[in-house]
Amino acid sequence: MRVLGIETSCDETGVAVYEEGRGIRAERLASQIPIHAAYGGVVPELASRDHIAKLLPMVEEVLADAQLTLEDLDAIAYTAGPGLIGALMVGGSLASSLAYALKIPAIPVHHLEGHILACRLEHPAPEFPFLALMVSGGHSQLVAVSGLGRYRIVGETLDDAAGEAFDKAARLLGLPYPGGPELAALADRGDASRFALPRPLKNQGLDMSFSGLKTAVRLTIDSCRAPDGSLPDAARADVAASFQAAVVDTLTAKCRQALEATGLTRLVVAGGVGANRALRESLAVLGRRTGTRVYYPRPKLCTDNGAMIAYAGWCRRTSAASEPRIVARPRWPLDELTPPSG
Ligand code: KG4
Ligand code: ZN
Repeated sequence: MRVLGIETSCDETGVAVYEEGRGIRAERLASQIPIHAAYGGVVPELASRDHIAKLLPMVEEVLADAQLTLEDLDAIAYTAGPGLIGALMVGGSLASSLAYALKIPAIPVHHLEGHILACRLEHPAPEFPFLALMVSGGHSQLVAVSGLGRYRIVGETLDDAAGEAFDKAARLLGLPYPGGPELAALADRGDASRFALPRPLKNQGLDMSFSGLKTAVRLTIDSCRAPDGSLPDAARADVAASFQAAVVDTLTAKCRQALEATGLTRLVVAGGVGANRALRESLAVLGRRTGTRVYYPRPKLCTDNGAMIAYAGWCRRTSAASEPRIVARPRWPLDELTPPSG
């Protein structure tokens, strides 16, 4: 069985083909960074327009790369939410129309389920059950995953998502959008011990909070400014490193507590912030100390991509929509999902 996957929930257009028994046959990703950079963040209307322009040519390229034609597809999966409504509708409309014309099922996929399952495209793939640290631009959750569609949120952020915190801190440091990777690169050159930034809610349950950290970053930056208002390069790198250390420390502590609370012995890292090298190293140390096996997909499977949607669609092949209907849910709690029917 071959499933075409389409991801258009935010600022990346992702297309891939997953084939049962063979894995990802081909994939393409188009970033919208140059389009949104001038505005310092994602402009939803521009995102939708760019998805429209890119999607169909990308489907053709992916099929050509895989040496397949539309007739070789058995289903078309698409991100149905959560995400930007206009962007979701582009992927949902194209996927549903293609599926309707080809008389094959269209499979609506939950974006976060795609992130959580992405690690199962790697070898070795984690078996269920596992704890997922889901850290993206819009979500920060600790999820006890006992099977496909069996998700219990054991902790989550009370305010900003971890990726959002990276992006906001990066902005305060004058870094271009998207801030997370830029800040991580700057942090490599800085001294993480220079500024003692807060570790919010560190020993208080499994929920997280990152908005206070942003305020602390702003105050720290202000305290380092030169008389002309500029921020010396060394201070910028040290703030970046200290901020990254605070987030990594907090996430690592939350994972440790969640592993203890749930008794789970596998930890899966999911979502864009999972591409962060300092976080990956810190979780590897946690794994060694606690006897936990840590799984992190390669960075390009952490950030948004079509492969995870094609694969999640294949996992949900029995729950395809029975009638032609486009699903687009900008808000869609992960724990509303149930195991696939059939
Ligand atoms: O999962 P994702 O690609 O999109 C969403 O579903 O949100 O996550 C994007 C988020 C952004 O906030 C981005 O700044 C952050 O992940 N991110 C990183 C890194 N790469 C991406 N944050 C820290 N370090 C990175 N290397
Ligand atoms: Zn995502």
